Amino acid sequence: MHTTANCQRNPLVSVGERSSQWHRLEYKRSCVRRSESLVYSKMPRYLCILAYIACFFSVTRVLGATYSLSDNVLGNGFYDAFKWETIDDPTHGRVKYVDQGTSRSQNLTYASGDTFILRTDFKTYLNNGEPGRQSVRIISKRTYTTHVAVFDVRHMPQGCGTWPAIWETAEGNWPYSGEVDIVEGVNDQAPNAASLHTGPGCSMPPAGRDQTGTNGQLDCNALVNGNTGCGVTLSERNSYGPSFNNNGGGWYALERNNNFIKVWFWPRNSGSVPSDVRNGAQRINTDGWGTPAAHFPNTQCNIAQHFDAHSIIINLTLCGDWAGNVYEQSGCPSSCVDYVNNNPSGFRDAYFDFAAMRVYQ
Ligand SMILES: *[C@@H]1O[C@H](CO)[C@@H](O)[C@H](O)[C@H]1NC(C)=O
Ligand SMILES: *[C@@H]1O[C@H](CO)[C@@H](O)[C@H](O)[C@H]1NC(C)=O
Repeated sequence: MHTTANCQRNPLVSVGERSSQWHRLEYKRSCVRRSESLVYSKMPRYLCILAYIACFFSVTRVLGATYSLSDNVLGNGFYDAFKWETIDDPTHGRVKYVDQGTSRSQNLTYASGDTFILRTDFKTYLNNGEPGRQSVRIISKRTYTTHVAVFDVRHMPQGCGTWPAIWETAEGNWPYSGEVDIVEGVNDQAPNAASLHTGPGCSMPPAGRDQTGTNGQLDCNALVNGNTGCGVTLSERNSYGPSFNNNGGGWYALERNNNFIKVWFWPRNSGSVPSDVRNGAQRINTDGWGTPAAHFPNTQCNIAQHFDAHSIIINLTLCGDWAGNVYEQSGCPSSCVDYVNNNPSGFRDAYFDFAAMRVYQ
């Protein structure tokens, strides 16, 4: 129907950050204006009312849900979109993060067509006194507030001692700048958990979150509970590690606005991958994406206040504060640092393979 299509393109509606009542009012008003200009006043009264009703119902579906592609990052595009961080791993991992020149010459990053590989070294034996295994940590040059990020991932790092992450933060003012972990885990332990870490005063409600995953801790404050943050464990086992890889990976997506932060996951072979996600569409509508894996609402957390403009970070560490501490519980051999030092071939599969990263705003 003409009128509905027109209403959906109304920019007032796609902002989605004002009260829904206000919206509905504005929406109705512009809807009437539009239908008046489209259809002449001779239109039968009942048609007018029908158009009105169609507009009214579509408003609840389109709120804040339409975004346009702003960064389409494929293959070599990763070299332009990201900076290489050669910092010491803040989580004390057995890695040495290298610069872009080194990662390219050592083939720790590799780009071609729609492939971008990021990995640890899997050839070198290390001595105890030496720096850790070479690895890569990259951070996006651009920062984002309200946005959707879609990661089309064919493979994620696997193996004992590995601790990969795809996440967002604003470095420098952590945890007050907020952190969103989209993919993070250790030692092949599936499934994935998505979590937030913030300063004090941000927590999640225990119920009514309309998500497929399971709540962990509810207090997002990074300064308590040993920085566990507020997490949601996904229901799909193939959301992480070897089972993710054996299934050809899948798509992860984050949506952030002032009302909520949501994370979705679709396994590669899922029948419910939205077509705009699968096709890397120019425009996406998250209203068509179904129930998210994790839903972090703003009811007990002022998202605008607890989350600054974020960079996207992809890092791959080994051992360290998390992977190292639960290494034996994960059923891994010897000790984490010994394993990293003496088993380079154990890291042959410790790589990300990205088919694309797309950011929408
Ligand atoms: C570099 O890595 C890519 C991707 O894993 C691989 O296809 C290629 O053969 C590697 N090149 C060398 C010289 O090892
Ligand atoms: C990446 O670095 C951040 C801190 O800068 C840390 O919180 C996160 O756990 C690290 N993850 C990995 C996998 O290195």
